[in-house]
Order: sequence, then C-alpha cells, then structure tokens
Amino acid sequence: MEQTLNYIEQNKARFLDELLELLKIASISADPAYNQDVLDCADKVAQYLTDAGADKVEVCDTEGYPIVYGEKILDPSLPTVLVYGHYDVQPPDPLDLWKKPPFEPYIEKTELHPEGAIFARGSADDKGQFFMHVKAFEAMIKTESLPCNVKFIIEGEEEVGSKSLEGFVKQHTEKLSCDCILISDTHIYSREQPTVTTGLRGLSYVEVEVQGPNRDLHSGLYGGAVPNPIHVLSRMVADLIDEDGKIKIDGFYDNVLEISSEDRLEMNRLKDNPEEFMQSIGLSGVEGEKGYTTLERTSIRPTLDCNGIWGGYIGEGAKTVIPSKAFAKISMRLVPYQTPEEITEKFTAYFEKIAPSNVKVKVTPHHGGMPYVLPSDTKEYLAAKKAMETAFGKEVLPYRSGGSIPITAMFEQVLKAKSVLMGFGLDSDAIHSPNEHYGLFNFYKGIESIPLFFANYAKG
Ligand code: BES
Ligand code: MN
Ligand code: MN
Repeated sequence: MEQTLNYIEQNKARFLDELLELLKIASISADPAYNQDVLDCADKVAQYLTDAGADKVEVCDTEGYPIVYGEKILDPSLPTVLVYGHYDVQPPDPLDLWKKPPFEPYIEKTELHPEGAIFARGSADDKGQFFMHVKAFEAMIKTESLPCNVKFIIEGEEEVGSKSLEGFVKQHTEKLSCDCILISDTHIYSREQPTVTTGLRGLSYVEVEVQGPNRDLHSGLYGGAVPNPIHVLSRMVADLIDEDGKIKIDGFYDNVLEISSEDRLEMNRLKDNPEEFMQSIGLSGVEGEKGYTTLERTSIRPTLDCNGIWGGYIGEGAKTVIPSKAFAKISMRLVPYQTPEEITEKFTAYFEKIAPSNVKVKVTPHHGGMPYVLPSDTKEYLAAKKAMETAFGKEVLPYRSGGSIPITAMFEQVLKAKSVLMGFGLDSDAIHSPNEHYGLFNFYKGIESIPLFFANYAKG
C-alpha cells in the first residue's frame, strides 16, 4: 500500500493536468449542439483508461451516447469491482454568473478549500470524481498492487436520465458481472466529518399545464371575469404542501418506510449546524416537514418542489395579457418503498382533483428513479468506511443523501450487486450551478481512499 500511495504522491501534478484536459470538453448531454463534444469526451475517457492499464477498452455505441467500458481481469476467482461514473455534464447556464468560462478550468483557493479547488462544469459531477478511479487504478497497476478484478463503465447520459444504460446492462450481464459496484458521484458531510453515502432518494418528475381561455386575452377587456391560468396554477402548486410541511397528495406517504428511532439517533450523530447551513445559502430561517431535522428532511423524508413556473408575457416592458396557458415543472424526491410510477399516478390524480372545473390540466411525466439504501452492516459499506478512516484519519459515519442516482437500484436488480457510494465532493461544490468546483484536497483524498477500499474489499 505504501508504494501505491507513494506513486500517487509522486504523480499528483500530472493527474491534475490530465483532469483539466478532460474538463475542457463541453460534454453537455442535454444540448444537441454539443453532440460532437460528448462523443469526443467518450473517446478521451477510453484513451485515459487504456493509458492507465485497462484491457478491452471499448467505446460502446448505444441509441444515445456511448458507454465507455474497460477492465482488468487478474484472476476470475478474485472478487470483481465494477466502477461506475458519468462523463456527461449539466448545461452550464446561466453563463453570466460564472467567474470564468465553464470549460476553461482554473484553480482557486476558497475558504473551504485552502489548498485550492478546480473550477469547471463537471469538476465535481462527475469527471473529477470518476477520474480519481482511473488514477487510483493506474497507481495500483503500476505498483502491482491491484488486489481484485476491476471493470469500468462510464456513461454519457446520466444527467438526462441514463436512457441507454438499463438496456446495455441487461444485454451485457455476463460482461458486467461483479461482486459490487463502486461509485464516486456523491459528497461527504464535511472534511472534518467524512461519510460514506448509504442512501439516495428516488425521483418522480412531472410537467404540468393549466389552460384557461382558448387564446391569450386582453387583460382590460376580459380581466376580472375569466380564470387566469397563472393564478390558478400558482394556487394549485401552493396547495400541494400544508402548513406542517406535509405533502397533501392522497396516499403520498402510504409506502414510506418510517425509520426506527435508533436509526434516527444514529443518523443524527452527524451534527446539523443550522447556523452554518443557513448562512451558506443566505437564509435567515429553514422550513420543512414538522417533526424532522434538516438532515432528516433532506434524506429519509420524501419531498416535493416546484422547479420552474412560467406563462404569459416575460419579455421586455409590459404587455397587458391574460395568457391561455401556464406551466410548471415539479420534482418529488422519494424514499423506500415509494416508486416513481406510484407517485406520478398519485400526483396526477390529486392535481386533477384540485383543479377548478373551469380550467383544463395536463400532467406529463418525465424520467424517474427508485430510491436506494446500502445497509451499514454490509461488507461493501465496511470496506469503504475503513478505507476512508485510514485516508482521513477520522471516524467515518453513514450519510443518507437527498440526491438521486437511479441506476443504483437498477444495478441491484439486474446485476444482483450492491453499490457503494464513496463520493468525495462537498454539498457546497455548486454542482449543476455556476462556478461548480471540486477541492484538490477532496480529489487527492479520493485517489488515496480507492486503493484502500480495494484492499479491504478483497480481504473480505
Ligand atoms: N451526482 C448527482 C447526484 C448526487 C449528487 C447525489 C450529490 C448525491 C449527492 C447526479 O449526477 C444527479 O445530478 N442526479 C440527478 C438525477 C438524475 C436522474 C438527473 C439529481 O439528483 O437531480
Ligand atoms: Mn453525478
Ligand atoms: Mn448531476
């Protein structure tokens, strides 16, 4: 192990340079204008895997963006770890809020990152994180210390719902067969309190439309006498959650797994720091479901949020109009044992029920995903916990995250293997936001922790 860690130390600067090259590629999967960049990025990832020492590296075509595969099979009787990551990124807009262009990575020190952080779209989500695995793998290969078989599967459609991945995994169960899946695409609680992510929420995402009159109307000639769809939609959205922060959709909580009081005590060992939390996002108060802490509200409880709402005139100046239609996008984060199908159905029924009879409503489901939990008594969790404890020199606690990585549940179902979420970001990394960044400390701690995980896991 010492040799491996030495190799990492000696090659740190090059690892960073290579990551910066990857971050220069605008692999935005949501925007067809960047099609070629996404494809170029897949090729670059394949090249990096080959250079690191992987065999059978392939850029596998799918109906969408390619999936990059690579492997090192030392001995079929050894355990096999499948590393998953994604090379696609979120669109960077609003561009004017970036201090420097999102695909021109630079390093800058911040209060939380005295060693410096890498600023670029995808630095934390997920290029900087899956790349740690490529470099840890290189270090293990070069120092002949890889203790088990490794497979890599790096996809290019995670940020748009991983449409091709499920089919690919189902088609290649033999090729992808493994004992566990290792993913770095989440964050730790803090640098002082490292954590292994033991849960992710599921997702149900819908778009709604409310139609009033059959055309836009003059707000002077018609105003006061007709339903304004913006007003109606606003009331309906506001009516989805009650004063206690409970979601009012009929049956919404029917299948929610209530967490035992012991487990709640255990998870609340992570100290909520409300002051710091509020200050970090410029708030003077928090809110949410009555009876739960902020930590619980953002992890073990299901939630509903309006992500966007629009309609009518939003251009320069004034236009006196009552629009025919108003729209909103709504996301619901799910916990075991809710399913996206069930929740989308219940949402639709409730939304139709609360609509006044003089408007028409339409609900269109988008992508969704199942929640995921990794119990803290599994060998996967314990191998990660021990690895991070060695690397950080601190006790590691389990951390249920509020985010979603829907493929973890699919992997469990199809490959019959557990996913370990050993992510190294911070919640302040501004993923999906302007000025996304990833700490150099986090990047290097991750590269150190990975060989330790492999060693622990191989020992069993
Ligand atoms: N890496 C994130 C998810 C994440 C981040 C989980 C931090 C936990 C902590 C992933 O790329 C992501 O953005 N997921 C989406 C869902 C997906 C279906 C688009 C999300 O959580 O909104
Ligand atoms: Mn991600
Ligand atoms: Mn993401």
